[in-house]
Amino acid sequence: MPIVFDSEKRVFKLDTAASSYVIELYDENYILNTYYGAKIPDMGPVGREKRRPNASFSLANPVIGENGFTPDTAPMEYGCNGAADFRISALAVRNANGDSVTDIRYTGHKIYPGKPEIPGQPSTYANPGDGAETLELYAADAVTGVRVTLYYTVFSNYSVMTRRVRIENASEKVFEIERAFSLCVDLPSMEYDMITLYGRHCSERNVERRALAHGVQGVESKRGVSGHCQNPFAALAERNAGEEHGDVYGFNLVYSGNFSALAECDFNCTTRFIMGINPVDFGWKLAPGESFDTPEAVMVFSREGLGGMSRIFHRFYSNNLIRGRWKTEKRPLLINSWEAAYFDFDTEKLAAFAKEAKELGFDMLVMDDGWFGKRNDDTTSLGDWFVNEEKLPGGLAPLIERVNAEGLKFGIWYEPEMISPDSELFRAHPDWHVHVDGREPMLGRNQYVLDVSREDVRENIWRQMYRVLSENRIDYVKWDFNRNISDAGSAILPPDRKKEFFHRFILGTYDLMNRLVTTFPDILFENCSGGGGRFDPAMLSFSPQIWTSDNTDPIDRLYIQFGTSMCYPASTMGAHVSACPRTGYETKGNVAMWGTFGYELDPRKLTEKERGIVRAQVAEYHETYDLIRNGDLYRLVSPFENAYRAVWEIVSPEKDRAMLTLVTMRREFCANLTVKLRGLDPDRFYKNETTGEVCSGALLMNAGLQLSRAAERDGESCVVKFSAV
Ligand code: DGJ
Repeated sequence: MPIVFDSEKRVFKLDTAASSYVIELYDENYILNTYYGAKIPDMGPVGREKRRPNASFSLANPVIGENGFTPDTAPMEYGCNGAADFRISALAVRNANGDSVTDIRYTGHKIYPGKPEIPGQPSTYANPGDGAETLELYAADAVTGVRVTLYYTVFSNYSVMTRRVRIENASEKVFEIERAFSLCVDLPSMEYDMITLYGRHCSERNVERRALAHGVQGVESKRGVSGHCQNPFAALAERNAGEEHGDVYGFNLVYSGNFSALAECDFNCTTRFIMGINPVDFGWKLAPGESFDTPEAVMVFSREGLGGMSRIFHRFYSNNLIRGRWKTEKRPLLINSWEAAYFDFDTEKLAAFAKEAKELGFDMLVMDDGWFGKRNDDTTSLGDWFVNEEKLPGGLAPLIERVNAEGLKFGIWYEPEMISPDSELFRAHPDWHVHVDGREPMLGRNQYVLDVSREDVRENIWRQMYRVLSENRIDYVKWDFNRNISDAGSAILPPDRKKEFFHRFILGTYDLMNRLVTTFPDILFENCSGGGGRFDPAMLSFSPQIWTSDNTDPIDRLYIQFGTSMCYPASTMGAHVSACPRTGYETKGNVAMWGTFGYELDPRKLTEKERGIVRAQVAEYHETYDLIRNGDLYRLVSPFENAYRAVWEIVSPEKDRAMLTLVTMRREFCANLTVKLRGLDPDRFYKNETTGEVCSGALLMNAGLQLSRAAERDGESCVVKFSAV
């Protein structure tokens, strides 16, 4: 039983495969979080000090009296605003009286197998055999009628818990939620480093590590999307934890909108961590009887450092987040027209790409931006989702027939949540874009954001998309989102609900995406946002792969892919070989092979030699497909820590195959390079498929592999594969 309640001790224990999480009910029904860490057999109370030194004369509950308990210092399970817990609050509700004192106490609970969905929002799911169990912990504020359900699902075959919160209005008056975080964890020390992923367009998800300090610190997005600049991910790692050792807590929010991930270290040197919707520009009115659901947060605990944490995220997301046909079915190897032609294409050019692509062994041609309205550059036509017949005479059908005749599948690009001021849609509906009255909204890439929080707007876009997708043989959709949301406002939201806009926008996006995946379950769906600006678990629940970055330079990609791999598996990372000149095609292929793999270049321009390399890569793609998608990742040498090279290894779940890739970013003079492999079976023997040498897993992991003479020059790379004998 992964979740147990000891009614005498009034303690809940939630066990995953490798972690325990203990919740205690204290005097006056306070809910306390007294342990989260490596698995323990005890039921508790686990002895965490609930009465710690006070700030000054800390405020105490008069009923509990003199024993010194105060919410100011206690490890509160879901810290609320205004009732003597002064740390960052997970919940704040402004009630009809105008105050925002919120004080929730335990009222009951329910434990049951499986995991419920969140209405209207994406979330992870339980498969039969996962041993998933859910605890619903009920709490209420006796004065304001705020009712809270804390949801916890534990997975007994992973070291994973998920959390989320439902807030209900059980009063007779409207109240407004001002903050509603998805998780709140109180840890007994501040001896942690916080690891987050910062970036920008073309340089997404760089790994950054900093020591926690007293006060509040963290990352957030106010861009209307999870964004390029910070990912909704944070890890708290013990100070001495590294890539493969030490305790690490990983947190990831299943949300594509404005988020906040904050840690506060208080005067007692303890840490509170909260993650959820960014309270800036957020508010939600709740009428009597209504409820509000937060997004879900995923919590991973690893004793095996950041690498262990990543491997848990990867397995969990591959099995319990990605859904639909393409979760398990082999995905087609595609060539995308963007870097090959940008807006400059027509039926003849695309048909020529398809012919070449077929010869090279690819499976699908994707027609990127530029096929609709009057779109010949990025100044027009978003919102006009009908075919540009000047480029594609007769529509899509003649092109798709020619592509299919080559034996290739066909994919198409959309940017459904956008509108160009120069479009038929804008001329017909000049109030459908995101804007506030009296203010000229900012343009981003010459476009406005379409107000998909509105049902009528979504309906229009959906109908346009449905027509194209249902009338043509389309196997793949790339869904782009190329600007952030400024001037946030919707023409139909009243002033007292304007703060709901950002969240309503994301719910609208989810609704549209859900229609796509449920109406066209066979379509392979790839997310994108000006490269990797919306690379988050919410998008992954709709699309099994996301375009990782517009930067296809293989050296820059090392950083991007190392960072992205912190929590997202290889099968999700869109990665293409392009014409980018910095390295040869071998290295471009070796780097892209770590992701979904594909091409983004004009195949007619490849030389005979390059065509030979590409054909070999296609064969390699098929040969290593299962290993890369199902294997465990070991980041052996990180480009964030080494100026010369990056090395990663993928080991099959059965530990009978392994593949190591080394990329030399910059030549190290007289390098003496030995790389110790990881994750092999020490007692098995493995054949090095390059040299034919046979060595034990123990030797490869302890003595290591000599690579001093491999990939010696800038931009060179090598792959060494091992198979158990
Ligand atoms: C940004 C994407 O990241 C690119 O791959 C491409 O689809 C362009 N948008 C098209 O406008």
